[in-house]
Amino acid sequence: MSRATPGKNRLAVIADNKDANESLKRVVALGAFDKSRKIIKRERHVEIPVIRSVSGYELVIQVEPAFYRQKPDLLHALQGRLPQECTHLIPRGWFLLGEVIVVKVHPDLRAYEHLIGQALLDFYPRCCTVLADEGIAGPFREPVRRVIVGDKTQTVHKENAVIFHLDARKVMFSPGNLMERIRMSHFGKDEYVVDMFAGIGYFTLPMAVHSRPRKVLAIELNPNAYHYLCQNIRQNHVEDIVESVLGDCAKVTPDGVADRVVMGMVQVTDQYLQKGISALKPGGILHYHQTIPTSMYPAAAIRDVTQAAAALGCRAEILGHVLVKKFSPGVVHVVIDARIDKDF
Ligand SMILES: C[S@@+](CC[C@H](N)C(=O)[O-])C[C@H]1O[C@@H](n2cnc3c(N)ncnc32)[C@H](O)[C@@H]1O
Repeated sequence: MSRATPGKNRLAVIADNKDANESLKRVVALGAFDKSRKIIKRERHVEIPVIRSVSGYELVIQVEPAFYRQKPDLLHALQGRLPQECTHLIPRGWFLLGEVIVVKVHPDLRAYEHLIGQALLDFYPRCCTVLADEGIAGPFREPVRRVIVGDKTQTVHKENAVIFHLDARKVMFSPGNLMERIRMSHFGKDEYVVDMFAGIGYFTLPMAVHSRPRKVLAIELNPNAYHYLCQNIRQNHVEDIVESVLGDCAKVTPDGVADRVVMGMVQVTDQYLQKGISALKPGGILHYHQTIPTSMYPAAAIRDVTQAAAALGCRAEILGHVLVKKFSPGVVHVVIDARIDKDF
């Protein structure tokens, strides 16, 4: 490790072992984390890879950075097998859910999608199916996906020591929410948590596995997602912590019980805000997800929370905000963390 002038792609900040998690969260929240490299643990400190300096941390240049494996190059693999005029449309990104590869294919490449699927399978020998991703639809935010190659769509996705059984064709799982799932895994110790939009356990399970809340009430309306939620509770051995409820959180969320409420839905979450706030005990914490115009980040989402709290005669103390991901052109997915004060 040298301590000279910063160089391209090899910068890291030094954090004490004891507050490595807090430092990582800070680096991520500031948008400075370099996802292409691994965090390196030394005897007394960790090196967190960054794309620029972060105030309050010593910056170093890593002599031997540990890069994640380079993503395979589909353009290269398909060279000469597609008409020249189509090559600029070849997908550059895809993601893996267990043994299933999910990829967006441009409509003009439909005639070649089998070739694309086969090339992707060649990159990942343990995968068996490739699905074409055609977006998310409906009130349950279900994926619209088509099989390109293979037939097995039920799979087991492992992440952060949590097991997610899912059908990649039928239930959503957003790779862009990874850091938020990890962030939530640090919350909830000994608490009563209500997860109002539990899905297959995106936030419920990381919390239950890593933080061991006293109880998580996981509510889900879609029977399909609920089926996997129940299976995942068993597979992760957290039946003693998580109670699952099949129902509409607008109707079944209890009032005044929770130390923490997670509202992991987007687009319509504001319609459920008063219910989420009512579920909290005085001083409880709310995690409010929403999609808002990039130009209004984070004010629009903060305003939702403060207004809903005021309408209920409560006060919202904004603890922080997280930019989860770009959602669509000009729109971002954010989370507002707020403490709800009811006794004043
Ligand atoms: C967008 S998904 C959760 C995504 C999650 N934030 C992630 O990390 O990918 C939201 C879940 O809320 C469920 N849902 C939608 N409306 C609901 C309601 N009124 N009550 C309970 N669950 C609901 C949907 O079926 C879906 O499984």
